[in-house]
Amino acid sequence: MKIGILTSGGDCPGLNAVIRGIVLKGTTTYELEFVGIRDGWRGVVDGDFFPLTRHEVKGLSKVGGTILGTSRTNPYEGPRGGAENVAKTLAKHGIDGIVAIGGEGTLAAADRLSNDGIPVLGVPKTIDNDLRATDYSFGFDTAVNIATDAMDRLRTTGDSHQRCMIAEVMGRHVGWIALHAGMAAGAHVICIPEVPMSIEEICDLVTRASDRGRAPLVVVSEGFKLKGMDQAFSDKGLDAFNRPRLGGISEILAPEIEKRTGIETRSTVLGHIQRGGSPSAFDRVLATRLGLHAADALVDGSWGQMVALRGTDIVRVPFAEALGELNTVPLQRYEEAAALFG
Ligand code: F6P
Repeated sequence: MKIGILTSGGDCPGLNAVIRGIVLKGTTTYELEFVGIRDGWRGVVDGDFFPLTRHEVKGLSKVGGTILGTSRTNPYEGPRGGAENVAKTLAKHGIDGIVAIGGEGTLAAADRLSNDGIPVLGVPKTIDNDLRATDYSFGFDTAVNIATDAMDRLRTTGDSHQRCMIAEVMGRHVGWIALHAGMAAGAHVICIPEVPMSIEEICDLVTRASDRGRAPLVVVSEGFKLKGMDQAFSDKGLDAFNRPRLGGISEILAPEIEKRTGIETRSTVLGHIQRGGSPSAFDRVLATRLGLHAADALVDGSWGQMVALRGTDIVRVPFAEALGELNTVPLQRYEEAAALFG
């Protein structure tokens, strides 16, 4: 059986470890043959494939990014897109099925292709940890570690100047990175999309921390909305899936906090630093295990499903379970962290 592997959507530490896991187990245990698909669904549509052997994946578990490249191409768009064309392209190259490693957008496309008769197996990835079907996605732990390290650094310079420091993290419409990194770094306020706050509430916590002689650290998720805001802050247009590109809310908050509290305030947007570099040990292990189980699922013909983490087990779930509702931060997890604010 010949299988194409693609990575699609935003990249994420651990993608290469998954590819390695699939190819190692697929070739040594099952004698599967693999091709790499360049730049996500773009490579499927254009028939852009290259042989992927054990040699190509050596030493990859610690390497960030993706050796396959990625894009946000929709496989149903363009003159060569659509399930019929994709089926013809795969048949021409003797490819029997696809492993699609991606987040919500990728898995939605995989689900649609699968319903249209294309054999696709999914592997979930996202630093945002916003997929419901898996307890954790690889990339998240690395992003949290990077953000925590950055916040530790912001705290030392904040302490020196007695400033309020704001750290803005990614996460789109869920606050997992903010919650975990903020708790790890001992933030005095954590602002997440799931729990709108007023500027007065934020300033009250900042002042309380400052009154205790602390340099306040405010962690804000890019998707956070102040009470009264309908949409998350966005001034960078839309992405390829017509979703607003988020980022910049900390730059709105900083002057407001400074004006209302009288505490000098600085903001830092961590941005893509959170997605770059080597995956953490946790993410290497999770991604490798997902890859190994994906190889098993290929041999079992588990098309239309994805591998996922439940507790400490890797399981298979239908695509539909991963789509629709986001894996948001439960209120009790936020309230638990809020006991430490101020
Ligand atoms: O979904 C991962 C993510 O890093 C989000 O946290 C962020 O909003 C978005 O991707 C950024 O996308 P891009 O790399 O296209 O700017």
